[in-house]
Amino acid sequence: MPAELSYVESGVEHAPGGTLVLLHGFPLNADMWEPVQKTPGALPGGWRLIAPHFRGFGGSTGVPDTTPEDQRSMDDYAADVEALLDALHVHRAVIGGLSMGGYAAFALFRRAAARFRGMILADTRPQPDSEDARAGRLRMIELAHREGPRAIADQMLPKLIGPQNRRLDLENRLRSMAAANTPDGLAGALQRMMRRPDSTPLLGTIACPTLVVVGSEDVLTPPQVAREMQRQIPRARLEIIEAAGHVPNLEQPEAFNVALSRFLASITR
Ligand code: MLT
Repeated sequence: MPAELSYVESGVEHAPGGTLVLLHGFPLNADMWEPVQKTPGALPGGWRLIAPHFRGFGGSTGVPDTTPEDQRSMDDYAADVEALLDALHVHRAVIGGLSMGGYAAFALFRRAAARFRGMILADTRPQPDSEDARAGRLRMIELAHREGPRAIADQMLPKLIGPQNRRLDLENRLRSMAAANTPDGLAGALQRMMRRPDSTPLLGTIACPTLVVVGSEDVLTPPQVAREMQRQIPRARLEIIEAAGHVPNLEQPEAFNVALSRFLASITR
């Protein structure tokens, strides 16, 4: 059963440009898209933004994760997003995500490619977890249950923000986003990420216009991974956001918004 997600939005229903769906990264939530949502002119005229909080994250903390632990997969998130789009009568949209949000976008593409007018892959990768990464996920699941979201933020934060942007205000913003998620929401995300399939074979089949975007100093999903994705996706363009790490939309919001806006403006009906 898909969960009923809460979401943040801007713009109007039946927007003439179209709908942009942005999926959030881990251990954050949809509030990470605030610079797109709240900056006037961040989206070209006529575009509507919908950014859901996954189960157990941000505004969706009241949404129980009813999928048994051993059956959780990225497909659950994709089904939730699809159900939300159905409820909002959005049939096609530009759909993308950052990091974990990109994994969820791949899962959604796998089940509903026809819904994509365009795709955005920000600071993400198509490969599945390595054995080492899976072992790390298991340790983090334990940590989430034992010490809660703040401990997860402590562990993730140094890898999220690039060296030039380690400012207290940005760190606090990320910490408070992480703190707004439930331990079970975080554990559920880790279980889903560690089981995600290889999306590399999908890349050549992504026929819609695609924006691959990455921070120049991203250590989790480095520019080389983005370059390789662009090479394999037929209609992809690559934007590298300078002086940014894994969350360029928060570290260099203006440059990120320009890249996003340029891409959306290139999409015709
Ligand atoms: C994220 O930013 O969503 C995570 O770093 C993704 C991951 O841990 O694979």
